[in-house]
Amino acid sequence: TSKPRLFSGMQPSANSLQIGNYIGALLQWKNLQASYDAVFCIVDLHALTVPQDPALLRENTRRTAAQYIAAGIDPAESTLFVQSHVPAHPELAWVLNTITGFGEASRMTQFKDKSAKQGTDGATVGLFAYPMLMAADILLYDAVAVPVGDDQRQHVELTRDLAGRFNSRFGATFVVPEAVILKETARIYDLQEPTAKMSKSASSESGVVWLMDEPSVTAKKIRAAVTDDGREVRFDRGEKPGIANLLTIYSVLAGKTIPELEAEYSGRGYGDLKKDLADVVVETFGPIRARTLELLDDPAELDRVLAGNAARAAEIADVTLAKVYDRIGL
Ligand code: ADP
Ligand code: NA
Repeated sequence: TSKPRLFSGMQPSANSLQIGNYIGALLQWKNLQASYDAVFCIVDLHALTVPQDPALLRENTRRTAAQYIAAGIDPAESTLFVQSHVPAHPELAWVLNTITGFGEASRMTQFKDKSAKQGTDGATVGLFAYPMLMAADILLYDAVAVPVGDDQRQHVELTRDLAGRFNSRFGATFVVPEAVILKETARIYDLQEPTAKMSKSASSESGVVWLMDEPSVTAKKIRAAVTDDGREVRFDRGEKPGIANLLTIYSVLAGKTIPELEAEYSGRGYGDLKKDLADVVVETFGPIRARTLELLDDPAELDRVLAGNAARAAEIADVTLAKVYDRIGL
């Protein structure tokens, strides 16, 4: 196709995505897929940078793929595949490791944060090399656009540096990609701790709404969301982070603006807002959950789709890798 190439990925780090992943990533990918030749990757090799249970990892990878498809990523229109199915990813990553400075990689703030949490002995070389694998993911596909959250901006910057460095040392090979930073307005916070980002790896179970939650569980979590002592439904991130978060979710899922919602709930209590939002969330995710379960019910068909897509991905990736090997003397 003549459409510009787009690459994005997500780790299979839980058996369900959370609604922040949907609002902040999947929904936007779905909206971008018609205007781009989109490549979406389930980055299971990246997931190995923290300890994984083998059976769970395999299961979570399949479940993540099913949720992507159920949420609207069309594996006939976009290329949707599992990273480890395309060996060119770690092969190119190795080459990129050899042109990355040790100090340069040490400056990646995500590595610094994560390794600080895990301690020097807990953090692996894999975690350190994560950004170069991510650079390989992007560069293999000649992607021009890389939609990512703000926390990944530095990794895309490194990818651009490595692409430029390789091109100037060995001749024009890589397309230098651009980060498409997803809107801060689409950032969803934990329902129990509305100043912390909702995350698959969050500790508070009741603050995370999972795509695969039973509708009754979803409704209960939303009704129990932390708010404030006031009574006014007003968007104020500083003073009323809980209400602001609920309004953000409501606005995105119902397609209404925040001022529209503020007007609609003026003079009404937080209870009404939560009850209606629970309905909206259940209506949005009910069909996605049902479709996911349907896809998981036929693992052979899902595996066939993923294998076909991996073959399509490999066709592109292998051309890039062959060019790279040729340039560097392999
Ligand atoms: P998680 O923290 O759930 O493990 P990842 O870091 O794997 O999520 O991110 C996967 C994608 O989902 C990224 O594009 C990220 O920007 C997006 N994302 C994750 N959490 C949120 C959130 N709370 N709000 C908006 N987008 C999010
Ligand atoms: Na497309």
